[in-house]
Amino acid sequence: DPTVLFTIAGMVPFKPFFVGDEVPPWPRATSVQKCFRTVDIDIIGTTLRHCTFFEMLGNFSFGDYFKTGAIPFAWELVTEVLGIDGDRLWVTVHESDDEAEEIWRDQIGVPAGRIQRLGEDNFWKMGDTGPCGPSSEIFIDKGPAYGADGGPASGGPERFIEIWNLVFMQFNRSADGTTEPLPKPSIDTGAGLERILPVLQGVDSLYDTDLYVPLLDVAQSITGRTYGADERDDVGLRIMADHSRAMAMLVSDGVLPSNEGRGYVLRRIIRRAVRRARQLGVEGPCTERLVDTVVGVLGAAHPALAEQHRLIVDVVGREEEGFLRTLATGTAILEEQLADGTATVPGDVAFRLHDTYGFPVELTVEIAEEAGLPSGVLNVVHGLGPEAGLALVDHPGVDLISFTGSAGTGVPLGVATGLSRPLGHFFDTYITIFWSTPSIALLPLLVVWFGLTLETKLALVFLSAFWPLVINTQVGIQNVDKSYQEVATAF
Ligand code: GLY
Repeated sequence: DPTVLFTIAGMVPFKPFFVGDEVPPWPRATSVQKCFRTVDIDIIGTTLRHCTFFEMLGNFSFGDYFKTGAIPFAWELVTEVLGIDGDRLWVTVHESDDEAEEIWRDQIGVPAGRIQRLGEDNFWKMGDTGPCGPSSEIFIDKGPAYGADGGPASGGPERFIEIWNLVFMQFNRSADGTTEPLPKPSIDTGAGLERILPVLQGVDSLYDTDLYVPLLDVAQSITGRTYGADERDDVGLRIMADHSRAMAMLVSDGVLPSNEGRGYVLRRIIRRAVRRARQLGVEGPCTERLVDTVVGVLGAAHPALAEQHRLIVDVVGREEEGFLRTLATGTAILEEQLADGTATVPGDVAFRLHDTYGFPVELTVEIAEEAGLPSGVLNVVHGLGPEAGLALVDHPGVDLISFTGSAGTGVPLGVATGLSRPLGHFFDTYITIFWSTPSIALLPLLVVWFGLTLETKLALVFLSAFWPLVINTQVGIQNVDKSYQEVATAF
């Protein structure tokens, strides 16, 4: 599916059935699906419930059963087959969904006080496009020791843990933003194995399950640190455990480290794991032992992993070796910079690290933040050309981007006016529209036109007539030409 980089949910392979592009060979299905979610990379290790690679369990109806079938199925499986105590469970439904609430309350018997309604949190979508619909989730209450009361809607996030998500698939969102009803209402379930397992094994977190304990054991043995002794070390050990599972799985599914797309994500998680190991005192390579352990834990259930064991060790090991060299050089340069007590990392340093040394921008941001710099730690200084600006612009933590327009290449105006990034972005988009279709850009002015004083109206007429001149003066460039528009659009 070209609309997603990875399989992010159990429903992805079934998308053609939901939207009616293909006729399903069966009206119902259940599956165990390997998934990878890039959105969670940055929080891995800081929570006890997120992982990048996970196995999603689910039952699906392609126009067959709907809410009155799916809700009793979910409850029966969770309480009778898995044996989870129903009194520990809470349920959420979409704020508009009276029917689902009635089924939970009247048919299943969940007390009304443990059913809550939520807005966006109970609407599941695959992405900007694709099938979507209101959802209903089951949460387990781990008890007061894990956080505040208040149920899933307002209680502690480590106390009320989502273990089951029923999506009532009803719509398909297209690239143009329109939403059409699906040919038939359908069911998509998302139930992470790694979320349910701690409940079944009676342990605190996914890291205490038998999927993760062997990985944390080897991470402790590699680093010489003890899990549970220091929260900062724990985050590093959890990242090593999570990312080693993910890197082994991605390579076994055919992904190789590279500078774009899936390959870049793989590169990023290998590098994050290696850097954490180094922070915890590991001097040499360490991924081989981690990968060996992943294959030991998951190889029986995933034969491709065991078959490609050597290949995975080699691919990951080569990436690790190259990165250890980059890391040594880049870290030295950055530490020298940070030792000066700087409040931000100058953009030219970030760009040199990225361009000359292959040191990733997100790593610069991460290291700077760890050193106590506030978020938005990069300030890209005047004097960078568009190439450097564009290389840095879309990384989280990069705050204000500006690149000067020598030779008429143009400048997004954020710099010149000192605007924050969102405002600068808005302004530059506006300017771009103005250049291509001035009449559209001027439309918003009409809305307020009639309430304006004569002086303001005259000033606006003057401004629109001399707009190019104003811009030229502000950004200090001679020719606002087409390349300006390109740069501003990319910005
Ligand atoms: N597709 C439902 C989920 O991922 O939770």
